[in-house]
Amino acid sequence: MCGIIGCCASSSIKDILINGLERLEYRGYDSSGISYIENGKIITYKSVGKLINLKNKTKDININSSIGIGHNRWATHGEPSLNNAHPHISNNKKISLVHNGIIENYLEIKDILLGQNTSFYGKTDTEVIVKYIEYIYKGNPLDSLLTLNKVLKGTYALCIIFLDHPNKIFFLKKGSPLLIGKGKEEIYLSSDIFSLQNYTNLFLYIKDNQYGYISNSTYQVFEDGNYINTNFEKYDSKQIVEKLTTYNSYLEKEIYESKDVIKNIITKHINDSKIDFSKYKINKVIDNIENIVLLGCGSSYHSALIGKYIFEDLCKIPSSTYIASEFPYTPIIKKTNTLYILISQSGETADLISCLPLLDDFKLGIINVKNSSLSLKMDDNFFLEAGSEISVATTKAYLGQLTFLYLLGIYIANKKQLISKEYYLSLIQELESIPNKIKQILDNHQEIKDFSNIIKDYKNVFFIGRNLDYLTCLEGSLKLKEVTYIHSEAIPSGELKHGTISLIDQDVYTIALLSSNLRNKTKSNIKEIESRKGKVFSISTNDSNYNIPSTLEIFYPLLQIVPLQLLSLYTAENKKLDIDKPRNLAKSVTVE
Ligand code: M6R
Repeated sequence: MCGIIGCCASSSIKDILINGLERLEYRGYDSSGISYIENGKIITYKSVGKLINLKNKTKDININSSIGIGHNRWATHGEPSLNNAHPHISNNKKISLVHNGIIENYLEIKDILLGQNTSFYGKTDTEVIVKYIEYIYKGNPLDSLLTLNKVLKGTYALCIIFLDHPNKIFFLKKGSPLLIGKGKEEIYLSSDIFSLQNYTNLFLYIKDNQYGYISNSTYQVFEDGNYINTNFEKYDSKQIVEKLTTYNSYLEKEIYESKDVIKNIITKHINDSKIDFSKYKINKVIDNIENIVLLGCGSSYHSALIGKYIFEDLCKIPSSTYIASEFPYTPIIKKTNTLYILISQSGETADLISCLPLLDDFKLGIINVKNSSLSLKMDDNFFLEAGSEISVATTKAYLGQLTFLYLLGIYIANKKQLISKEYYLSLIQELESIPNKIKQILDNHQEIKDFSNIIKDYKNVFFIGRNLDYLTCLEGSLKLKEVTYIHSEAIPSGELKHGTISLIDQDVYTIALLSSNLRNKTKSNIKEIESRKGKVFSISTNDSNYNIPSTLEIFYPLLQIVPLQLLSLYTAENKKLDIDKPRNLAKSVTVE
């Protein structure tokens, strides 16, 4: 993962680098660092842990440099430590670089360098790159980058400063995102546009295998030794990161925003009680779709599972889901007229991007971040327009994804005349009522808060339910483990007796979802748990520990997840954890 930034300006780059890194922190917070050129030297500051540590370290330092690079790290090779933090420096202290990606053949390259008596101070693949550049460098950075691109295997976006080219930052990209931003008197490099949204809206996305340099007034891009003519484009950078006001965390804020995200998607796509997808290219292929393949990771995979249910239930289209990191290695029998749906909040998830070469039919993205790497490679996109999601644990984007999947399912079913006019209208009417029902849940959160006080002391939690309830259990369980560090597992309730029930005792809490029409079966499973002294907290529409409003069977995933999101939030608050930045995680997972 990691976020990188570089800036050539006409005045000090300190604030630009630090502000940019603040915006890029969602990409990793194991360590951070900056390098800049001042008084004929490359100066570097690094800190382990969150960016605040680097900010504190540099707060009294006057930086008089107008050229610098910065990095937020999500550790892959080598533990989070000062030695492994970027920027990485050549042994002669004349080259410094930051890297986002993974070098697969770094050990082979390291062996070559060790044979040349090159010394290493850390364990990262990135240090190998800077030492290799030092080894091949003959005074022309562009020549070195051309050679480097032939040698490196893996993914990389690199920003590099060379002491003997003190007014330029050099770059090379393959597989990891990198763009150039053009300000009035500055030119920037960054992993994303949001890090630069206070400075410019003119951007140029660097393509794979391209390399070049920026200065404060110009830039050049090359590919395979040839100069490439490029232009900046204006990009909408509306996804402003709002400051927390009345909320204690972004997770809390974003849970409360979910209802607005759903409402916004519905309002923009339902006119006069009809779903209007006329502006989308997918319209042209809908009649021919014979099967649907849904891909995602983490919560986005959980959305995909619910999508499959919707498409098979409403549209009768055979659908399959794959965890994106497994898809390229799974024997798949290709079918014709496939609709691929790629679901991702960030649009930067490397596991999804690596599936692209295998997808030879229409690709629809359900994505939050516009202009993200994945969205640019889709045939069409449904953008969630959920605003920035800052908390690592996704909430509002997950509900936005589900809303689009419901709309698409209902739209196709109606277009293919698989559902009656009355059912179509009742589905739309009920979908429109969901934001209000979510509001009722949010207003009625005290019982969940009280329960979080109990569950915070448990080490193991199970989530049980059947059918759609089970699919929500998967997401509820991921949310709980991700932000509270409590081990949890989702099990279809009927499956408990096939093994897992042996773990049930008085030290295990089970959260049971009872909204599907199979609730009576789950109720029997609850009895089995209670007979073994296990404790149960049930969520249903009535007669349970926590009651949610009722809706049509197919829409329960939109409601049930909300108390589970709140439970994770309150439990993490009770445990005094860093809610928005849980340990070991990053918001955008840009490595495979
Ligand atoms: O940006 P994406 O939706 O592609 O991210 C996929 C997963 O990494 C993400 O959903 C992750 O599981 C969340 N942290 C869950 O809250």
